[in-house]
Amino acid sequence: MGGYFIALEGLDGAGKTLQAAMLSRKVASLGLGVLSTAEPTDGPVGKLIKEMLVAGQADPRELALLFTADRYQHLRVEVEPALRKGAVVITDRYLYSTLAYEGAMGVDLDYLRQVNRLARLPDLAVLIDVPVEVALSRISSRRALQLTERGQLLSSVNRIYREMASRGELAVVDGKGKPEEVFDRLWGLVGTLLQFKKP
Ligand SMILES: Nc1ncnc2c1ncn2[C@@H]1O[C@H](COP(=O)(O)OP(=O)(O)OP(=O)(O)O)[C@@H](O)[C@H]1O
Ligand SMILES: [Mg+2]
Repeated sequence: MGGYFIALEGLDGAGKTLQAAMLSRKVASLGLGVLSTAEPTDGPVGKLIKEMLVAGQADPRELALLFTADRYQHLRVEVEPALRKGAVVITDRYLYSTLAYEGAMGVDLDYLRQVNRLARLPDLAVLIDVPVEVALSRISSRRALQLTERGQLLSSVNRIYREMASRGELAVVDGKGKPEEVFDRLWGLVGTLLQFKKP
């Protein structure tokens, strides 16, 4: 079975969506099949999550289980079929987001790991690492509301992400600098993975 499963992680504004788009273009240009996907998904559970987030009805214990249910559906309906076809699957956020965000909101990390235990681990999970100030400056024009509150949360999120990185669960790419510079670093990891596993 071919296929490579790659997850991009990082704070709001870290550059995940931009890097995911650059990465899928690059991979496609090599003639490989690509599925570019994201969590929360556009499936029924993902839609519910997005509605709850917009409405501000975001109890972290509820969100933790909904994000996780959405993830299992994501795997079954989209990710695993694409991997079976040998595609490179690039997901913009994965289970590390649940650990980092819901963990930062006070949900027990071991519990979060436990409910996510049946979700396959990616071949490569990358933290696009930026300081909170950089993340906030990139999103400030887009979502000016409640940035101070968000900043406090994001500091805790970043701490959990960096702890996971120091445990070797996430590879780290420095997300500072121009998009092309970040991409060169990211490609250093992904290119190695694809070559390494090439049949
Ligand atoms: N390296 C960079 N330098 C400057 N601006 C950037 C860089 N990377 C991304 N941006 C810009 O910053 C904003 C946030 O980037 P992006 O949407 O990719 O972040 P994200 O990690 O997907 O955030 P979210 O988690 O909120 O979806 C976008 O307007 C994007 O064009
Ligand atoms: Mg994004």
